Amino acid sequence: MMETRTLSIWRLVFCVFAVFVLLAPAASVSGQLMVDFYSLSCPAAEDMVRNTVRSATSNDPSVPGRLLRLLFHDCFVEGCDASVLIRGNGTEQSDPSNQSLGGFSVIDSAKRVLELFCPGVVSCADIVALAARDAVALTGGPAVEIPTGRRDGRVSLVSNVRPNIVDTSFSMDEMIKIFSSKGLSLEDLVLLSGAHTIGSAHCGSFSDRFRKDPTGRLVPVDASLDRSFAEELMERCPAGFDPSITVSNDPQTSSSFDNQYFRNLMAGRGLFQSDSVLFSDARTSNLVEAFADDQESFFAGWAQSFVRLTSIDVKGDGEGEIRLSCSVVNAE
Ligand SMILES: *[C@@H]1O[C@H](CO)[C@@H](O)[C@H](O)[C@H]1NC(C)=O
Ligand SMILES: *[C@@H]1O[C@H](CO)[C@@H](O)[C@H](O)[C@H]1NC(C)=O
Repeated sequence: MMETRTLSIWRLVFCVFAVFVLLAPAASVSGQLMVDFYSLSCPAAEDMVRNTVRSATSNDPSVPGRLLRLLFHDCFVEGCDASVLIRGNGTEQSDPSNQSLGGFSVIDSAKRVLELFCPGVVSCADIVALAARDAVALTGGPAVEIPTGRRDGRVSLVSNVRPNIVDTSFSMDEMIKIFSSKGLSLEDLVLLSGAHTIGSAHCGSFSDRFRKDPTGRLVPVDASLDRSFAEELMERCPAGFDPSITVSNDPQTSSSFDNQYFRNLMAGRGLFQSDSVLFSDARTSNLVEAFADDQESFFAGWAQSFVRLTSIDVKGDGEGEIRLSCSVVNAE
């Protein structure tokens, strides 16, 4: 009896050890990223991306929200490898979620400038990550130093999109499942949802929050949705939640990256089901309260979660390529 117990303890120790050994090579891939990766090969790379984002934003205030969203879709599907940018039949862009994506032309402009000054050096995946980072800083959020050196993927499949992205109708358990499959924690989930402090959404993306009552009148599905907020949404989205109409995610301060989003959640004014559950679920409500209360702690947490987001399944040395045009893989 004693002997078998000792044996099983050793077996356990061995298994834990084996898991570490097996995981080590995977972990070192993201270790190949480094801050200032382009300091010798293209020292002005980050400035060029920032200037492009700044001038695009001054022409179109919806740009920062779009760039941030583009990063999520890139990183959650196939890792942060610019697979979301590849055009063609059957690529990630064939998924209906592409309708709500934008910012592609900003990435293309940045790439054009970079190809002029540093041909073949800076990856599209890094441009997507840097542009989202700059979008946050330009709208008043924290300036986050992120490591670079991502390489661009050569695979972009529509079948990879649905199983990997968070849908606005998701429950907490569904969100936790996807986030943890990307190595992100519950705290990352709450912090990164704070991205909804900027940007806007199509009426169709939250139509699931309303239903018709027996008399044919629209009523909120979720009783915790603030009454006057619900009225506003129904007013702004007439005629069956026309998907061509958009609504700001955080109407009070829609172009400012701040902690108002978390205050909205506490006031029953979260736009999506996937926003509202963050405050109604006991596993995350205390985090929502903490960030609503203290913007500095949101910003400090955001900086760390953002680096983790931009490190999901990155391709390093010996993998992928530096794409010459962001929308097509290089010729073999
Ligand atoms: C995409 O598929 C459609 C229908 O199958 C076809 O008509 C079109 O030529 C294809 N486009 C490309 C770029 O392959
Ligand atoms: C995806 O969206 C972009 C930008 O809105 C558009 O240029 C592109 O053609 C779309 N791709 C598909 C396959 O619909």
